[in-house]
Amino acid sequence: PKAKGLKDYYQKYFPIGVAVAVRNLQGDEAQLIKKQFNSITAENAMKMASIQPKEGLFYWKDADSIVSFAQKNGIKVRGHNLCWHEQTPDWFFKDNEGKQVTKAVLLQRLKTHITAVVSRYKGKIYAWDVVNEAVDDDPNGYLRNSKWYQICGEDFISKAFEYAHEADPDVKLFYNDYNTERPEKWEQIYKLLKSLKDKGVPIDGVGLQAHWSVVEPTEAELRSAIERYSSLGLKIQFTELDISIYPWEKIKRARKPGESDAFTPELEKAQMEKYAMVFKVFRAYKNVITNVTFWNISDRYSWLDNYPVAGRKNYPLLFDHHLQPKKAYWEVINFKK
Ligand code: G3I
Repeated sequence: PKAKGLKDYYQKYFPIGVAVAVRNLQGDEAQLIKKQFNSITAENAMKMASIQPKEGLFYWKDADSIVSFAQKNGIKVRGHNLCWHEQTPDWFFKDNEGKQVTKAVLLQRLKTHITAVVSRYKGKIYAWDVVNEAVDDDPNGYLRNSKWYQICGEDFISKAFEYAHEADPDVKLFYNDYNTERPEKWEQIYKLLKSLKDKGVPIDGVGLQAHWSVVEPTEAELRSAIERYSSLGLKIQFTELDISIYPWEKIKRARKPGESDAFTPELEKAQMEKYAMVFKVFRAYKNVITNVTFWNISDRYSWLDNYPVAGRKNYPLLFDHHLQPKKAYWEVINFKK
């Protein structure tokens, strides 16, 4: 019989996904993806800057490769993302003379973009992150003061969902954000989601990015986040899971002189316990959780290696540099099936 992977152990729970670039779709990484995962997300290839770098100039090659790899191998695709304040080319916000465009023009450009992307992958992508990270990090704030917000006010959010829904009425539509279980941010995210639901916006769920660390979130924080968001009638997907070996405070600053970035046995244990806890909670809420996706494949490469300072190694995933399962992996699959 074929050796089992994460997707097989979790067959009765939810699809298990991974974020990829085109370069990962060959060699040993492709083998690992096929064995372990049954959902994929493009790490960058479907973002606005990748797809439409200039107005009307659509670049589909990388996104198409990822979708066709998935189709060939019976893997589902999560789309990421249709509207964000990062990785959005400046032309969206400017006219020919370099002046800021009006709300009407910007919404028209948003509609053109979303319609093109969602229609192209209709029936091939099963869920889209429609709007990404629109909530402010300031606990006293609400929506992020992005170009989208400055020009359109909050309307760009509901419009983005409407455009996506028109282009593919069957695809599941998500609002996606980070720090969704942190006390300083969850209320604002809940407020936004509730207002979308109250207005009748076609939203199916919320993506909790899950860029966590060995010290966060706590089990209580995670459970209450799931309960609060699902109380709105929304499905939940964990869209960008990784467990950094550095607590958030430490990751935000450069390494101090003499400070090690080694993956010590203590950190390995702490990470293993955190992974075991979060998957135990995920399994307990399988009725509302419809996907769990890892952000990158293995410790060979993680976006966290370069965030926020280039070159500091991190070890946030379930597979090591040689693509071998780490201790945390065995914890994640070690439950009564
Ligand atoms: O494509 C250029 C390349 O031409 C250039 O030579 C190179 C030099 O810096 O940069 C390349 O672009 C980089 C791009 O990734 C593709 O590799 C950007 O600099 C880099 O900033 C970009 O980072 C991505 C980041 O989103 C952008 O903010 C990460 O790979 C990606 O993992 C990360 O993903 C985000 C999710 O979309 C949303 N949630 C948070 C998550 C982590 O930040």
